[in-house]
Order: sequence, then C-alpha cells, then structure tokens
Amino acid sequence: MTSLAPKNAVVPLSLPLSFVALAALYLLLAVGVVALEPQALGAYRHPVLLAAAHLFFLGFGVGVLMGVMHQLVPVVLEVPLARASLGYVALFFWGLGTPLQAVGFLQQHPLGIALGGGLAWVGLGVFTLEMVLTFRQAPRWNPVATALSWTLFYLILAPLLGLFQALSLRYGFYDPARLGWHAAAGLVGVFVLSILGVGHLLVGMFSLSHGGSARWLGLQLWAFNLSLLGLAFQRGLGEALLWVGLALALFDTRNILAHRNKKALDVGVQHYLAGLGFLLLCTGAYGLGYSFVAGLWFALGFVGLVVTGMLYKIIPFLIWTHRYAPLVGKQKVPLLKDMLPGPTARLAGLLWGVGALLTPFVPQAIALLVLGSLVFVYSLQEVIRR
Ligand code: HEM
Repeated sequence: MTSLAPKNAVVPLSLPLSFVALAALYLLLAVGVVALEPQALGAYRHPVLLAAAHLFFLGFGVGVLMGVMHQLVPVVLEVPLARASLGYVALFFWGLGTPLQAVGFLQQHPLGIALGGGLAWVGLGVFTLEMVLTFRQAPRWNPVATALSWTLFYLILAPLLGLFQALSLRYGFYDPARLGWHAAAGLVGVFVLSILGVGHLLVGMFSLSHGGSARWLGLQLWAFNLSLLGLAFQRGLGEALLWVGLALALFDTRNILAHRNKKALDVGVQHYLAGLGFLLLCTGAYGLGYSFVAGLWFALGFVGLVVTGMLYKIIPFLIWTHRYAPLVGKQKVPLLKDMLPGPTARLAGLLWGVGALLTPFVPQAIALLVLGSLVFVYSLQEVIRR
C-alpha cells in the first residue's frame, strides 16, 4: 500500500504549509467579499463575483493544489522533489499576484487584473518548471502522473487565456466567447483533472482499497480532454463527453470503494463523495442551461468540499510525520488519527454542503459558507497546534 511519505527525500514542511496557509486566507477573503455584497451573486461578470471567483479558484484551489503536489508528486513518481527552492519562488509570485488581481477586478481595472494575474502566472510557470524537473527523474510512469501533467498544461493555458482576456478588455479586441474557453480550461482542465487524478490515488489509499484500475482513470483523461476540445468547437459533443467522463469517474470511484478493506468511510472520503455528488448536480444544471447555478455548485460544492476534505487527511499526516515520526519509540506521541478534530471537520463540511446547495437560490446562504470556512480554518489550526 502506498503511503503519503516521499520515498527519497523529505519535502520541507514550510513549503506545502505556506501554500495551504495562503490558500486558506484567500478562501476567507473570497467568501468574505461575497458575504459583504451577496447581491453580486445574481449578476453576470459582477466585479465582486470575478474577484471572489479568482480568490477562490486561483487563490484557494490552485494554492492547495500546488502545496499538495509538492508532497504527492514525489510519492506518485518515487523520486525526490527537484529544486524545492523553485517552490518558494512560485509561492512568492502566486501569493503576491493573486490578491493584486482581485483588487484589479474589484476596481474594474483591466491593467491591474493583467498585472496581478500575470505575476500569479509567473508563479504557476515556476511551479510547473519545478514539477517538470521532478517528473523527468521518474523511473516509471502511471496515469496519476499523466493526470497531473495535464493539470500542469492547463495551469499554464487557462491563466494565459485569462491574461489575454484582461488585455483585450483594455486594448479593445475583447470577445465574450473567449471567456468560455478560459473558464472551461480552468474548471475542467485544472480542477476536474487534478481532483479525479489525485482522488483516484487518495480514495484508494485512505479506504485501503485493492480495487480500482488505473485504466479507468486513463479513459477519464481522454474523455475530459476531448470534451474540452468539443466545448471550444462543437458544444453538443463537448457536453456529451463531459457526461462520459463523469460516468467513468463515478464508476471508477465505485470500483475503488467496492474493494476497500476499511469499511467506515473517513472524513476525507465523505467529503470527496459529497463533492462528486455536486459535480453530478452541476453537470445536470449545465446541461439544462443553468450555467450560473452549475458554476456555483462546481466551485462551492465540488471544489470546496473535495479540497477541504483532502486537507483533513493530508495536513495531519504532514504535521505528524515531521513532528512526531522521529519520536516514535522514544516518547509517547499522539496517534495520527487523533491529529484532526473529527467532529469539527464534519461540521465544517455540513455547513459547506448546505451552504453550497442553497447559495444559487438564496444568496444569504453565503453566511453558511463563511461559517464553514471559519470552522475549516479552525480545524486545520487545531491540527497544527496538536
Ligand atoms: C486557474 C486559474 C483560473 C481559473 C480557474 C479562472 C476561472 C475563471 C472563471 C470561472 C471566470 C468566470 C467568472 C464569472 O463569470 O464570474 C473567469 C473570468 C475571468 N478571468 Fe479567470 N481564472 C483563472 C485565472 C485567471 C488569471 C491568472 C487571469 C489573468 C489576468 C484571469 C483573468 C480573467 C478575466 C479577465 C475574466 C473575465 C473575462 C471576461 O469578462 O470576459 N483568470 N476566470
């Protein structure tokens, strides 16, 4: 059974933790700005919504992704992390650019958006370089690594399309249709692919499963990549392929769970399953033409629940390994399973789930998401304190 510990080298704890800490801050800012102006939820391309969307996706989602990949990629490929120093450079540019870009959106200042987004993009570029150097050392390849490679590709492409969109707002060659390309590359390319790739690995690991074939993950990658091409040029085909990819993802997860040895589903897997439920709802809403509802369910339900759930497993592991693993056998140390305050994490998930479900219809339900985010941050803080 694979473990989350890298085989050949220890990743400095400060690197993933700094990404996650900043990501959590951007999450609080994202829900906070919407809570201050909930009526923004009803308006297309509202500045507050655009700022919140980027604090959420580029700040929270991408931040956690980068932090977690620093830990996971060495595990997946059984290689040491190449040049951890590049990770700190990436952290600096992304960490600085993301809030600047949000301010640009709030002030409706296309050059500010481009400058902040451009800085963040440089950070993503440096991160990608660090990962490519790490990937190149791999003695063997596997579909989880393929999913993460595609994620890196879209992590460069999606912001580049956004940058182009920001510059076109300023210099006059704006085309609203290109917003769809940017959003699809970001949402499907970055988030669906990374979540399903990492989820395939982690759900199996956390439920001690011997089932789940990597072949199904490979097929999902084909379906979602082709669906992106379809969404750009042939929308009907793109949507059909989204359904194919989703069906494969559900089948894959069912397979993994059907062969699990650990019968009780832990908090991370519960969050993952709830997140997949939201992905199903979101695809349905999108198919019926309710793009706005679909977008909110995607962000808050799918990304929000899956990402917070994965952190409830990964952060305790990181802290325990760095702080307590060297002391095992020498003094009494807490058990890994006692690192997370489980009931608090479940409460955060419940607040998030209900908030995500209701927010498209009752904007005031954003208050549940604010509460859920605070409880989530508190749970992680407790892990760090223990
Ligand atoms: C992976 C990171 C990113 C994701 C997932 C993402 C996602 C999105 C989404 C979903 C929207 C539509 C929001 C809405 O309609 O309320 C959007 C709009 C936009 N994004 Fe991003 N974005 C990302 C990074 C960036 C970056 C780095 C820039 C660079 C400047 C950028 C610039 C823009 C602009 C200018 C718009 C509005 C475009 C328009 O009004 O036509 N995005 N983005």
